[in-house]
Amino acid sequence: MTSVQWWETAVVYQIYIRSFADGDGDGVGDITGMRSRLPYLGALGVDAVWINPWYPSPMADAGYDVADYREIDPAYGTLAQAREFIAEAHAAGLKVLLDIVPNHTSDQHRWFQAALRSELGARERYLFRPGRAGGEVPPNDWQSIFGGPAWTRTDDGSWYLHLFAPGQPDLNWDHPEVRKEFEAVLAFWFDLGVDGFRIDVAHGLVKAAGLPDRGGPGNPHPAFDQDGVHEIYRGWRAVANRYEPQRIFIAEAWVPSNERLSRYLRPDELHTAFQFDFLRAPWRAAKLREVIDEAISSAASVGAPPTWVLSNHDVPRTVTRYARSQPDGMVESEWERARWVAEAADHELGRRRARACALLQLSLPGTAYVYQGEELGLEEVEELPDEVRQDPTWLQSGRTDVGRDGCRIPLPWSGSQAPYGFSPPGSAASWLPQPDHWGAYSVAAQERDGDSILNLYRAALALRPQLWVGAGDVRWLASADGVLGYARGEAQCWVNTGDVEIALPEGFSVLLASEPGIDGVLPPDAAAWVRARR
Ligand code: GLC
Repeated sequence: MTSVQWWETAVVYQIYIRSFADGDGDGVGDITGMRSRLPYLGALGVDAVWINPWYPSPMADAGYDVADYREIDPAYGTLAQAREFIAEAHAAGLKVLLDIVPNHTSDQHRWFQAALRSELGARERYLFRPGRAGGEVPPNDWQSIFGGPAWTRTDDGSWYLHLFAPGQPDLNWDHPEVRKEFEAVLAFWFDLGVDGFRIDVAHGLVKAAGLPDRGGPGNPHPAFDQDGVHEIYRGWRAVANRYEPQRIFIAEAWVPSNERLSRYLRPDELHTAFQFDFLRAPWRAAKLREVIDEAISSAASVGAPPTWVLSNHDVPRTVTRYARSQPDGMVESEWERARWVAEAADHELGRRRARACALLQLSLPGTAYVYQGEELGLEEVEELPDEVRQDPTWLQSGRTDVGRDGCRIPLPWSGSQAPYGFSPPGSAASWLPQPDHWGAYSVAAQERDGDSILNLYRAALALRPQLWVGAGDVRWLASADGVLGYARGEAQCWVNTGDVEIALPEGFSVLLASEPGIDGVLPPDAAAWVRARR
């Protein structure tokens, strides 16, 4: 590759549209709200936005159940508004990435409706199978990711597969019409100027032949990361390659190793993939270093940029992940609720660490993802009343897993009480309630405070192009236990995850630090960017 492409160094801001900004006052975020906040994103200094699904959906899984891939959900706006948003974002210098959901459709999609009516050939686009034991028992032992069996029985007694909610039937990707349709959907949005797609459950589309039993939770899942999936992405890449400027793909693929992940990034497949180890790593220098080295070398092995994700709409917020004692190894369950119940969260500690981790993330080579609200230091809202919970995980797990609502709370923009400027005055209540103390974390409050995390992000994003973009490889520096130090180009990044302060290198000045007043000495749970004094 000759010159560096935008997506190899970009900072991408994830807009969870339901919770970003509500323009029309129904308590749900929308396109009008996003348009009104483009200046905010401009001032923040990100390069691109990724918008979670905005297509028509019965919202069995917050829009990841798509009923029509070529339209906009009426709660979010219209296709005309989507076009305007894309044009305005481009005019503001932002690339626009959408979310495509190819593993499953909504049960309200015309294809699934036709399948329920048993129209000729319609069931073949999905995975319908007869039950076992005379039909009463699901066709195999697969469990839904949200809990319970991955099969639901229809009125006529046959079963269909849904790896997620019953309202999300899995498509049959061996069917040529399914392949053709998705390539056409990609082209539809590329024609509207969209710059690329995040691919939902990219590792799920192809299932092992014959849909065999998994046989136990420790076994590799026959529904995921099958070799046949790669052929699909070669076809998608060919679609993207027809366009100028370049269109790109990002895989959401939860696979067991970096080696498996890098297969999605071969030169004729996807451009990049989320590297999720960062959001499973504890706040411990040794582990972070390991994760960084591995992510960089495995991405390099296929010529892709590494990517850094601290959180997203599926996992607990960073502040809360860091607000309790840290495990020695990787966080093995995505949720770790047990530890949550046993230990109280220290959000101030979590926030200090999240600030430091932001400087770590934004100084590394490659692409960084910022999930809305991360730049405000929002914590996971752990005490939602059960009756307001919306995530299908809650009910499907038999009310044992509270699910992901706590990281999806509408953003606080201004003011001292709900909806904190999320909706215009006099609006309906927001679709999830906001905590009483969130006025202090609103954008307006943080703009007034020079030391706020929002201003830290702004400063970091403003410095990043000068200090780190194109600065070359990470060179580790000798450091004390619990401390990470590396140089890239002329600058260095120092992160202290330990519990004693350390001296910063002599002859260097601090360009930016995660806490105010840092100079010469780096306290615990802090980070600094430094450069040699001239
Ligand atoms: C992805 C999405 C998640 C969704 C699931 C099913 O993991 O990020 O929010 O529930 O896919 O589409």
